Amino acid sequence: MEKNITVIAGDGIGPEVTRQAIKVLDSVAHQYGHVFNYTHCLMGLEAVERTGTPLPDETIESCLNSDAILFGAIDNLQYENGENDKSRPEPSLLKLRKSLQLYANMHPVTTYPSLQHLSPLKAKQLEGVNFIIFRELTGGIYFGHKELSSDGATASDVCVYTKPEIERIAYIAFKYARRRKRKLTLVDKANVLETSRLWRRVVEAVAKEYADVQVDYMFVDYAATQILLNPKQFDIILTENMFGDILNDEANAIVGSPGLLPSASIGTVTALFEPVHITYPQAAGRDIANPVGSILSAAMLLEYFGLMQEARHVREGVNWTLKNNFVTKDIDSINFYFTSTIGELVADFVSHKITGEINVGNIELRKSTII
Ligand code: IPM
Ligand code: MN
Repeated sequence: MEKNITVIAGDGIGPEVTRQAIKVLDSVAHQYGHVFNYTHCLMGLEAVERTGTPLPDETIESCLNSDAILFGAIDNLQYENGENDKSRPEPSLLKLRKSLQLYANMHPVTTYPSLQHLSPLKAKQLEGVNFIIFRELTGGIYFGHKELSSDGATASDVCVYTKPEIERIAYIAFKYARRRKRKLTLVDKANVLETSRLWRRVVEAVAKEYADVQVDYMFVDYAATQILLNPKQFDIILTENMFGDILNDEANAIVGSPGLLPSASIGTVTALFEPVHITYPQAAGRDIANPVGSILSAAMLLEYFGLMQEARHVREGVNWTLKNNFVTKDIDSINFYFTSTIGELVADFVSHKITGEINVGNIELRKSTII
């Protein structure tokens, strides 16, 4: 299989974690006989510095002509003063989502037995937690009409949803539910919002085509508590843009380290894959960032291409590193391995260079320790 991938490595730790994902993808390509062609494009601070804009048109163009996009992280620190600063990252992120019509954001939340001590939740609440939040990404209050009155005393943000916008993400979410535990929870605020009532009606109608999927409806405030109290009850959560933004971050917190989590944003012509973490400038260039979120994003990219066996192989490689304590500094601040070493280990796992006996001695050389 030959595929074209646009790479937007971005700022901070974006480039170094993305490099590990590419290392793993190259290993998959080599092992399974695929060709992945990469086009590197600018976005974020580096784009501002080199082109004067955080999202150059060539970047959008390249994305639209690619089979998938691998994204690192983009910065928002240096430009955070000055509300109207055109180089702030939010508008460019939203513009990218809208231009590529990335309407369905998938945010899988998985906990790992060996990392349960990092979570603020108790081990018994974490066992078996495995759900995906489907967040609508190109509509709702994010993109509705915004207004500030001329005297600056009144503001409004309109939340609009249409039936087709809800339907297209509902179909994807139901399809995934069918491949998993066949349970879908629509999270809304239907006791207050008209848009939420529309979501319910549309989802109820789509649910008729998926009679084998159990559907329940939960108000967002209650869902926020349930994610903390009993996260394993969820399989697929489907929700609108703003609620999804908040629940995604809440869900990140229960996993223990944001560095572990991947995400995918599915669009009408292409899809974008990115770790959920931020640019973490303090760690940039030090080879200490956790590349697992980025590597698992590459696994989701492989699944999007239909390369299920390849994706499984990458996931097994990641699980192998975590189980054997090959982890970065966010996971173990005393005995940790470098970003690039984790990338090499997963790539080596995929190319069967790691078998039963591994030469721990060689790997130890690439370990950092503060004692
Ligand atoms: C995210 C971010 C963005 C969002 C911001 C930076 C606009 O928080 O990707 O979740 O709110 O969608
Ligand atoms: Mn967010």
